[in-house]
Amino acid sequence: MKKIPVIIDCDPGVDDSYAIALANSYPEYEIVALTAVEGNVPAVLTRHNCLCLRETFDMENTKVAYGATVPLVRPYFREESVTHGEGGVGGIQFPQPTRAQEEKEAWDLIYDEAVKHNGELVVFAVGPLTNIATALRKYPDLPKYIKKFVIMGGGTFGNVSKTAEFNIWVDPTAAKEVFEKLEVYMVGLNATHAAAVSIEDFDEMLEITAGGKNKATEFLHKLTQFSKDNSFGRGQDNNVIHDALAVAGEINPDTVKYEKYYVYVEDREVENVGETVVDLKGESGKEQNCWVAMDVDQPLFAQVIKDMCKYYAEK
Ligand code: RIB
Ligand code: CA
Repeated sequence: MKKIPVIIDCDPGVDDSYAIALANSYPEYEIVALTAVEGNVPAVLTRHNCLCLRETFDMENTKVAYGATVPLVRPYFREESVTHGEGGVGGIQFPQPTRAQEEKEAWDLIYDEAVKHNGELVVFAVGPLTNIATALRKYPDLPKYIKKFVIMGGGTFGNVSKTAEFNIWVDPTAAKEVFEKLEVYMVGLNATHAAAVSIEDFDEMLEITAGGKNKATEFLHKLTQFSKDNSFGRGQDNNVIHDALAVAGEINPDTVKYEKYYVYVEDREVENVGETVVDLKGESGKEQNCWVAMDVDQPLFAQVIKDMCKYYAEK
């Protein structure tokens, strides 16, 4: 069976880690690359975490390429994140990675792989869109080589402000350009919060991964314990596994229902900077350019995540 080539542009990140694990567990996918971008934690950490996650999940055919360290225009830097813990992946300590990153920068690797796979490449972008926008600026013909482009980002409400979601808000200029140049499948906060897993879901995941039969299962057990301890009134909402829903919507299309709307990104430094403005009423008269995740099947999503845990536990 010919596998589907996939690149995951990410800022790991606890939920990014679940997304990578899920994509890697799907037999129809060949994860050709993980590309690191600034975001949840500084790029030095998202880069290191990409290298470590690749080896944690034995992703032998996956390249890692380093991308942006800062957004295109407005500076952004966050030393660390309570949501993502020390080091950016729940405080989990990894062995030193044995394989290095590619010499190519993320945007060059994305383009080269898109051309190599001649229009079959699926790209998930689950961090700020700096790398994607840079690739589009450098290679204007990139869109014709991308089969599908799915983001975790944006939505009909925000988490940095009432209207702005983190991935879009960190680099609104990049997001604006990406939405203007690519057809985006947008899995936003309205969808990810509706798909939040329950404490019972977490407990089932902990039971499945208990005993840590291999490094991937041991990692998922620790990641889930961190997420459970960091949710349900303990200050964070790590039970909203944002990035994994973007992947789940592709490997099991019944988990996410999309509707098409015109969407633009506000990148001016105004009150709603970073908003993905969704023309729900069709008042703009503009062409619908974005598939917006509007409905989810939470029990099915939770089952997809549990099945992913079983995949590694039974390896
Ligand atoms: O707003 C949630 C998004 O921001 C997720 O991708 C999370 O990993 C952070 O990058
Ligand atoms: Ca992310």
